[in-house]
Amino acid sequence: MSKEIQNEDPKKLAEFEAKINSGEKIEPKDWMPELYRKQLIRMMSQHAHSEVVGMLPEGNWITRAPSLRRKLILLAKVQDEAGHGLYLYNSAETLGVDRGELINQLLQGKAKYSNIFNYPTLTWADIGVIGWFVDGAAMVNQTMLAKCSYGPYSRAMLRITKEEAFHNRQGYELIAQLCAGTPEQKQMAQDSVNRWWFPSLMMFGPPDAQSPNSEILMRWKIKTESNDQLRQRFINMTVPQAIARGLTLPDPDLKFNPETKNWEYGKLNWDEFYAVVNGKGICNKERMEARINAHENGRWVREAALTYSLKRQTVN
Ligand code: 3HC
Repeated sequence: MSKEIQNEDPKKLAEFEAKINSGEKIEPKDWMPELYRKQLIRMMSQHAHSEVVGMLPEGNWITRAPSLRRKLILLAKVQDEAGHGLYLYNSAETLGVDRGELINQLLQGKAKYSNIFNYPTLTWADIGVIGWFVDGAAMVNQTMLAKCSYGPYSRAMLRITKEEAFHNRQGYELIAQLCAGTPEQKQMAQDSVNRWWFPSLMMFGPPDAQSPNSEILMRWKIKTESNDQLRQRFINMTVPQAIARGLTLPDPDLKFNPETKNWEYGKLNWDEFYAVVNGKGICNKERMEARINAHENGRWVREAALTYSLKRQTVN
């Protein structure tokens, strides 16, 4: 048992775990082990950072959307992601942290965001594949997190997963249109699938055996399924969709096992994953520069809002 848990009051810890195992939610004012609170802040803040940084690759294509309809859809999706980020910072603040502190940790390189947003969006097809693969993976992950033992996170997920379903469907529709288009459009979709498939599988985190956080997260039902279980669910959901569109996934070892009903897959490149997570991905530098600039350029808005709210308080 980790030192942090050993220092907890055993009676309170037993009551806490009985509550979780009975399916009750833990609410902000309830007693909770410090490690439970710390793990939630880590996950929820990284999740919020991912939503906001995730706006950058897609925002890159808003001015270049091929039709007004597609521009409207992309605008709506990017705005949704901003809302998800704010929702998640709100949920994290129920644990007594300040979003300013969390955002500073990100801007100082002390907090993570999802690996997937460090890949470039080179063609319009990438916007479709992000919706199809990235939001599809997020939907699988977040549907699980909607059962999380911490009330505010679980409720945030209920709202967010509904919007992820729209994100996923619009992405797949975009890819279906390209696949039904000219040979060049179909090839653009195939090229995008080739570049995004493996990084999307790695979104679920390292293999269970290499996942230092999963054990405690699953003991306290923050996560109710493992990284590999969720990855497998996403693969089983997505491979038939690719086949239906006549697209080939870039994994020669992909094969259906009729016994387990799983699509078995080849080795993932975990060296690439850890390199990207540790700042050495294709777009890490560009994403962080953009995020820091946005924060700086928005300083006046934050100061104006703060001044206004302080004035309001003195007047009332
Ligand atoms: N990207 C970056 N870092 C990752 C990662 C990923 N895809 N997967 C794992 N890691 C990091 C973990 O943060 C951990 O490092 P830390 O201890 O310093 O935080 C380390 O790798 C080991 O991983 P673990 O499996 O032990 O970590 P977790 O148990 O936390 O599992 C997770 C990782 C699956 C990402 C989990 O944290 C989680 O479910 N987080 C909430 C969901 C989330 O953050 N999703 C990000 C995508 S948001 C999105 O897609 C927006 C959509 O609208 C497009």
